[in-house]
Amino acid sequence: MSNSIIVKKRIKDFNKQIIVSGDKSISIRWVLFASLANGISEAKNLLMSEDVLAAIKAIKKLGIKVLFKKKTCKIFGKNINGYKYKKNITINARNSGTLARLLPGILINTPYPIKLVGDNSLSKRDFKRISDPLTKFGSKFKLKNKKNLPLIIQGSSNLNSIKYIENKGSAQCKSAVIFAGMRANGTTLIKAKKSRTHTELLCKHLNLPIKTIEKKNYDVIKVKKVKKIRALNYKIPSDISSAAFFIVLTALMKNSRLIIKNVNINPLRTGMITILKKMGVKIFFKNRKIYKGEKISDIHVKSSNNLYSINCPTNLNSSAIDEFLLIFLVAAKAKGVSSFKNLDELNKKESPRLKWGAKILKKMGVKNIVTKNSIKIFGNPNLKIHKKILIKNYLKDHRIFMTCIVAALSFDGKSSWHIHDKDSIKTSFPNFLDVIKNMNK
Ligand code: S3P
Repeated sequence: MSNSIIVKKRIKDFNKQIIVSGDKSISIRWVLFASLANGISEAKNLLMSEDVLAAIKAIKKLGIKVLFKKKTCKIFGKNINGYKYKKNITINARNSGTLARLLPGILINTPYPIKLVGDNSLSKRDFKRISDPLTKFGSKFKLKNKKNLPLIIQGSSNLNSIKYIENKGSAQCKSAVIFAGMRANGTTLIKAKKSRTHTELLCKHLNLPIKTIEKKNYDVIKVKKVKKIRALNYKIPSDISSAAFFIVLTALMKNSRLIIKNVNINPLRTGMITILKKMGVKIFFKNRKIYKGEKISDIHVKSSNNLYSINCPTNLNSSAIDEFLLIFLVAAKAKGVSSFKNLDELNKKESPRLKWGAKILKKMGVKNIVTKNSIKIFGNPNLKIHKKILIKNYLKDHRIFMTCIVAALSFDGKSSWHIHDKDSIKTSFPNFLDVIKNMNK
């Protein structure tokens, strides 16, 4: 079967209600917490994507039983010290930065070295950002070229608490240190630039001795040694980063409406909504509720014929980090020049998304000026694309594939897009193309 897709036709205006799959960040965290819990935890609507399956495979290697029954996943935790560490364990995190960065925090007390590997994209990413703080606890981490995977974790049974300043707005780094802090003597103090709070909210819900003090621009997190984690049943809400493709598809249409049900709207994940609203997209949250500390809502979107450019506030960067490729598409269709700054982190994702986003816009005929950490996009509300566009060799980045499908289906003109690496959607949103097909019915 071909691993590429050709899109020649625009989608017709729609009025739909959809559901997107379970949240990836919460699914991976639930798997990890459940594997450390004392008893059986059950999750419904767990995201069945390769990143989450890699997490499940990892805990199985560590001696934790996992069962799937109908749509429920059961994890048989043996409490916080219940992993069965063996000699010569290799764990493959595949494409998952979240798994690969959180696990070393959890495995910091392993009695035998554990090797962590990943796919081609993950092997290019920076792991010094977690090995630096984790080393301070008193364990050792060996990296290829001092930065990349494979990573060898050489644990220690005697871990000291640390003080750590997280200044990238990275929830992965923050979470790795929270997990390690749970195993250390004393109180670990983290001063973290604001980023998604799923780990902290799970800790709070589980009554663990982890406290967050919220300041205006950062959080202070105090982590004490954890003796016991209770089992946790969870109904995973939908992923706002998956909903984002359909929010932007609606925004780029002329006269469409969409409702996306039961989406996690953790305030440190909704930067894209704030940005798109400022750009004139009509988005509303309805039917809001709180579930185990997480905010959940239905998202209503209407297309708007007036999209405005934006000088994007940099304090929204972390909370929109996975959605910038999509935001760039809206900027391409907006009136005026949009400007996005301090985006260094965007080039450190599954692929260098700032650089490659700019390249894709150029292919579409959208003028832009890109630097190492910023981009200016010259929008054109009347943009029509009349060419063949080939999207190939983008490190199999799932978000690049799905963003290009959204662009191909929504921009006017007689274009023909040939988009490679369809399989990449298995990473985060395996039924993405089924939901797309349903929009066209
Ligand atoms: C994630 C955090 C973000 C995000 C990633 C998922 C998480 O990465 O880009 O897709 O689940 O903690 P950083 O922590 O590196 O910003």
